[in-house]
Formats: sequence, structure tokens, C-alpha cells
Amino acid sequence: MVSAEFWGDIAKEFYWKTPCPGPFLRYNFDVTKGKIFIEWMKGASTNICYNVLDRNVHEKKLGDKVAFYWEGNEPGETTQITYHELLVQVCQFSNVLRKQGIQKGDRVAIYMPMIPELVVAMLACARIGALHSIVFAGFSSESLCERILDSSCSLLITTDAFYRGEKLVNLKELADEALQKCQEKGFPVRRCIVVKHLGRAELGMGDSPSQSPPIKRSCPDVQISWNQGIDLWWHELMQEAGDECEPEWCDAEDPLFILYTSGSTGKPKGVVHTVGGYMLYVATTFKYVFDFHAEDVFWCTADIGWITGHSYVTYGPLANGATSVLFEGIPTYPDVNRLWSIVDKYKVTKFYTAPTAIRLLMKFGDEPVTKHSRASLQVLGTVGEPINPEAWLWYHQVVGAQRCPIVDTFWQTETGGHMLTPLPGATPMKPGSATFPFFGVAPAILNESGEELEGEAEGYLVFKQPWPGIMRTVYGNHERFETTYFKKFPGYYVTGDGCRRDQDGYYWITGRIDDMLNVSGHLLSTAEVESALVEHEAVAEAAVVGHPHPVKGECLYCFVTLCDGHTFSPKLTEELKKQIREKIGPIATPDYIQNAPGLPKTRSGKIMRRVLRKIAQNDHDLGDTSTVADPSVISHLFSHRCLTIQ
Ligand code: PRX
Repeated sequence: MVSAEFWGDIAKEFYWKTPCPGPFLRYNFDVTKGKIFIEWMKGASTNICYNVLDRNVHEKKLGDKVAFYWEGNEPGETTQITYHELLVQVCQFSNVLRKQGIQKGDRVAIYMPMIPELVVAMLACARIGALHSIVFAGFSSESLCERILDSSCSLLITTDAFYRGEKLVNLKELADEALQKCQEKGFPVRRCIVVKHLGRAELGMGDSPSQSPPIKRSCPDVQISWNQGIDLWWHELMQEAGDECEPEWCDAEDPLFILYTSGSTGKPKGVVHTVGGYMLYVATTFKYVFDFHAEDVFWCTADIGWITGHSYVTYGPLANGATSVLFEGIPTYPDVNRLWSIVDKYKVTKFYTAPTAIRLLMKFGDEPVTKHSRASLQVLGTVGEPINPEAWLWYHQVVGAQRCPIVDTFWQTETGGHMLTPLPGATPMKPGSATFPFFGVAPAILNESGEELEGEAEGYLVFKQPWPGIMRTVYGNHERFETTYFKKFPGYYVTGDGCRRDQDGYYWITGRIDDMLNVSGHLLSTAEVESALVEHEAVAEAAVVGHPHPVKGECLYCFVTLCDGHTFSPKLTEELKKQIREKIGPIATPDYIQNAPGLPKTRSGKIMRRVLRKIAQNDHDLGDTSTVADPSVISHLFSHRCLTIQ
């Protein structure tokens, strides 16, 4: 049974300019019956920004409630922003965007650290019906350029610079490089709006409520270049902007944003989410999965550059009128006390992070955690990759002092919000299991021939019916959407994950079953790393596999075959790492690079990654190798394995 009635009742809790003329849901999940489409509430009109801000301020009288406590990279650098202040700033920036010629349907790229203006920028886009395409500020200029071009963004919003721990990132420089590359490829971006973040103190901001309150910070000497005719200062534009702005009333099925995620071909996919369904889904999952109460202080540590930040830093909490922490820094700066001191400082009640952060902090023992009170904590969440039972138990026993339920939430950029998850206090937990489907979600486990498996089983995780938060298309490439998610098993949305169901009906995600890697909770495709490697003049061929890592979960192990005349050396390894950082970003930096004079291939020339994975782990149980064209390469690779992280 499709859950249209259930979602119909939930939709009544939101503001609709015009109601849904019906039908509430139309869809086709079966490629053999025609085009794949999903439409929730088509014909209804609304605005998500209006729902998460205006309604909270005017109808629910939450204007003076804090929307975000902002905690900067440096302890002591803080500010806070109420719902009313956020609404004013969003209206102002919406007017700025309109004045720059941005209209409904236009794409706006955002490349910023975790500062309040990032939230303002995305909500302003939503208010005027423009699509935001947020690119994580840890991505390289090349990645930014690729994403700007793919969705032809006419405007970029960025920041002068920021600190990530001790590291200064000159973001404007990277943005300039990206814009230069766009220009060279025949796509000139019209405008670049720059937030003065590190240079904020010198502005003396804070006199007007419509500007960010002052942030105490050291002001380093960051040199940024300025492109006359393209670059504009955020604060100058905001000074002139009016603080009222009529929202653009959008169809429930109009696109809200694009967010790129790695694709197995190597080219990132622009995942498109729509206004109405996404709003319902993130608001509802936030409410139930975190058992939201009005007095909560919620903290999701994810960066807004990822889907977790979109759904559970910005849209989900704001839709519920929640108070959240917005954190710019990292868990280990200035030391490993940071997260727990922030929990105590703001009396955080619900805390949501990734297994990689838990494993990282676990290494430093219990004391940095237990010396903090943490008495405010009620629910702990995890997301992004399978959590190993050891980390789960530490999270539960040490961080949560055995009092706090853990919600292990399985979902994807494509799903918009949680899919498999416990409900805190209600679902008996098993460490490492994402337990059961959320309301209205219908999972199934299929075997290789596409048959649904009942009871205890292991196979492909798929979903049988749409939920409101499902992506609607890949930007500019609907065929790729159909091929990636619907072709393998007609009638089902295919997650790309393996899954096991135990005798009690609990779901256990076993990891990706395609050529995707999950490094610290971030998906990368083997193909994108391989193509970055072969772009180096010394590399003829490359093969990348995932390798277990105690903190990252999985890390990259690369095999490279060199061109004639080149020799393998530590210098070359460094160059290759640099190449990957520049092409993709620091998250894709490999831990191991091995010289591979030959790669194990089938007779038809396909690289056997299964064998390479075993070689990387020194596991000689290779299974069937009868199809390997030249078995001698295997023993050579075994005897020249990388033994330590480079
Ligand atoms: O493999 C699954 C893993 O992360 C993938 C989705 O990655 P992304 O689109 O970047 O979104 C991450 C944040 C939602 C999934 O296909 N994954 C995510 N959450 C879990 C997980 N694996 C196991 N358990 C989880 N809780």
C-alpha cells in the first residue's frame, strides 16, 4: 500500500498557497512500463523558505527563538541568530539575488564554509525559486568548475577564507581558479558574491540587527584577489537590500536544489530534489527520528555541503522550529575535548554524527568524554557508513553513558532523508543495525535474479514504492537516473547497497555493491580517482580499490602502471596524491599507492578489482582466478604490497 494518505495528513501541517488538486501521488517505478517519474502533490503551490521561516516567526511566534548557535573554528568565536533575524537576512539576500537577475529556475552555486551566511544563501535561493547547488568547501577548484558547468550556474557565492583546524583555506583563490576554468571552457559565470568571513572583524558589523552580530576573531592577513566586474562583497549588497521579500510560490514538484554525488562512471550526478516532497520528508523524519521537542538543542556535525547538512542542519530542524548548533570546526581542534565541551556549553540534547568521527575520538580514550557532564544528551545519531559494533558500543556506553538510545540512520543523498532507522526509545536496538524502515518506506531484499527474498536473507537492498523525499532526476540527464537506480531490477529503486535481514527482521547494511567507495562516510567512485591518476603524465593505467581503515572505515589503495621511461619513487607518490587533491579534493587522498607493472585482467581486458582488493589485504584466498589473462602479475603484486600508509 502506498502511503499517500499518511503523507496527506502530514501535508496539512504545512502552508500551501494553493492546495493539491490531486492526485496526491503519481509515479512509475517500472522501466518496462515507460518513463520513470515520481510526483507528490503536483499542482499544489508553496514555498519551503516561507514554511521554515515566515510561518515560524509569524504564526508560531518563534521570532525570538534561537535558530542557530554558531560556533566557529576557534573556541570563543561565536554568534547566534534568531528565527526573526534569519528571516530578515534571508529576505535581504533574496532581494540581492533578484537584483542580480536571478530568477525562478536559475542555478546558483554555493561554495562556503559552515557559517550563518551559508544557511542564509541557501534559503534565499529557495525563497525566490532558484536552485542552490552547494559544493562542499573541501572540494577542489576543478570539482567546483565541473559542477558549475554541469548545471550552468550563473552566480557563485563564496567566502574570503576560513580556518579548518589549524589550516588556512584561501577559498576565494580556489573559487577564482574555478571561475577561470569555467571561462576557458566557454562558460563565463556572471557574478561572484563574497562573504568577508575572516576579515569580518574589520567591518565592525553588528550595529544593525539585519547584519551578523560581531564575531570575535583574530584577523589574519589573507590576500584575496578581486575581479572587477564579477566580484561583489556580500556585506555591501546587504546594506542596500530591503528586508521584505515576497516568496516565489512554487509547484510542489518544482526543483528545490541540486546536490552532486559521486557516480560509478566517475562523473558526479546532480541529484535533484523538489520543493514539496522534500519538505514533508525531512521535517517528518527529523521530528520522529530525533524525537523532537520544542526545548531541544539539536546538533548535527555534518557539513551543509553534504546531504546530511542540507536535511538535518538546515531544512529539517528549521521546519520544526528547532534550535541547532552550527559548527565550523573539526572534532580535534584545538583538542579532542571540542565536541563534548560544545555539548555542555549549549546543553545539546540530540547529537548526530558519523562513525568516522566516533572511531577517531575513541582512539583518545574515555577521559576526554567523561570529564564533561553530557547530562543534557538524550539521543545520539549516526549516519554515513556502517558503524562497527565496537564504535557503536563506545558511543552508547561512554558518550551516552548507557542512557541515550542510538539512532543508526541509513539513507542516501538520493533518498533526501532517513530510510532505515530506529525510533529512539521505541525500537529495541542491535549494535550495527539500522533496524527497520521509517513510516511509509517499503524495503525489500532481492537476489541476483531480482526475486524478493523473505525472512532471513542477504542480497540487494531496494525500495518498492516512493516516499516523498526521493530524488526526481539527475540534473540534465534523466536517462542516467533511470539507468542508475531503476534498470537493474524493474519496479524497484535500487540503492547500490548490500543488506542482510536477520531472523528478527532487522536490516543490516553490508556496504556498497558497486564500484563506489565510502571513505569517512563520503562516497567516491573508483573511476573518478582512477581518471585523476591517469591524467598524470607518468601513469598509463590505474586501478583503485577500497581497503579497511581503522578510522576512515575504508581508505583508497591504488595500483598504478607507469608509462615507459618513468620510475616509481616517493616523489612520484607525492605528486600523484597532490594530483588527486587538486582534481577531486583532500577527502580522496589515497593512503596507499603501489607500483603495478601489470594488472590482473580478464581475457577481455577487464581489470579484476576483486583480486586487487585481496592483494591489498594480503589475502591469498583468491577464489576462481582461471579467467586471469596473465596470472604471473598476481604474485608480483603480492610480493610488492605497500605495508604502511604512505
Ligand atoms: O552505502 C550507504 C552509506 O552511505 C551511502 C550514501 O552515501 P551519501 O549519498 O553520501 O549519503 C550519506 C549520508 C546520508 C549509502 O548508500 N550509508 C549511509 N548511512 C549508512 C550507510 N551505511 C550503513 N549504515 C548507515 N547508517
